[in-house]
Amino acid sequence: MLELKLFHAVLRERHSVRSFLPTPVPDEVLRAVLEDAQLAPSNCNTQPWQMHIVSGAKRDELSREILADDDVGHSTPDFSFAHSDFYGPYSERARSQGAAYYQAMGVAREATEDRRTASRLNLSFFGAPHVALLFMPSFGDNVRVAGDMGMYGQTFLLSLTAHGLGGIPQTMLGFYADTIRKVLDIDPSLKMLFGVSFGYPDETHAANKYRIGKAPIEESVIFHQ
Ligand SMILES: Cc1cc2nc3c(=O)[nH]c(=O)nc-3n(C[C@H](O)[C@H](O)[C@H](O)COP(=O)(O)O)c2cc1C
Repeated sequence: MLELKLFHAVLRERHSVRSFLPTPVPDEVLRAVLEDAQLAPSNCNTQPWQMHIVSGAKRDELSREILADDDVGHSTPDFSFAHSDFYGPYSERARSQGAAYYQAMGVAREATEDRRTASRLNLSFFGAPHVALLFMPSFGDNVRVAGDMGMYGQTFLLSLTAHGLGGIPQTMLGFYADTIRKVLDIDPSLKMLFGVSFGYPDETHAANKYRIGKAPIEESVIFHQ
């Protein structure tokens, strides 16, 4: 019997999980999470998300392939991403987030090789038994469909939390979009925005012991009367 937590508690309990137990998620629990995520709103109810959920031997194969890409510096993102695009408070928040992760992992700022090892954990899905890859059709400049994907992604993450699971959204997986399409036989017209590794959190792992702070609402909300 699943104990579904109160919405308020679920919202506060959700956080990015970066270490998982190998235990697979039972099919009926996964289906319940996907039924929840399907309730997400979208522009004109287009529901543009296409989820590819990868487990077992296919998961291991996919991880091997993208690690091999990373070994030779081969990346094929559908959408650009550069930390240097951030500015002002956004780059400061991104910097503190990175610093908090590496500090939790016991990696020093100047330890370049250790940082790379910690970052590459993204490509082995942080040990999660499952990874969901979120693909989308391309409409216009893609901004509105990407918004819909975010709505879906957060609904999925909250439902994982409500079911005692955890997940980590990962832009980094999208850097290997061509390889992922090839391994999973996905049509090139579908673009990859991000992935979510998920499963049961390893609560004892250092990566899961810190929580990143959020800005006060005064930094994000402007009231008009
Ligand atoms: C779309 C998206 C992509 C993300 N990509 C990554 C990623 O590639 N690797 C990673 O470790 N964290 C990634 N994150 C997690 C963020 O760092 C995290 O959400 C943020 O620091 C806030 O922490 P919280 O999720 O614990 O509230 C991503 C988050 C989102 C929403």
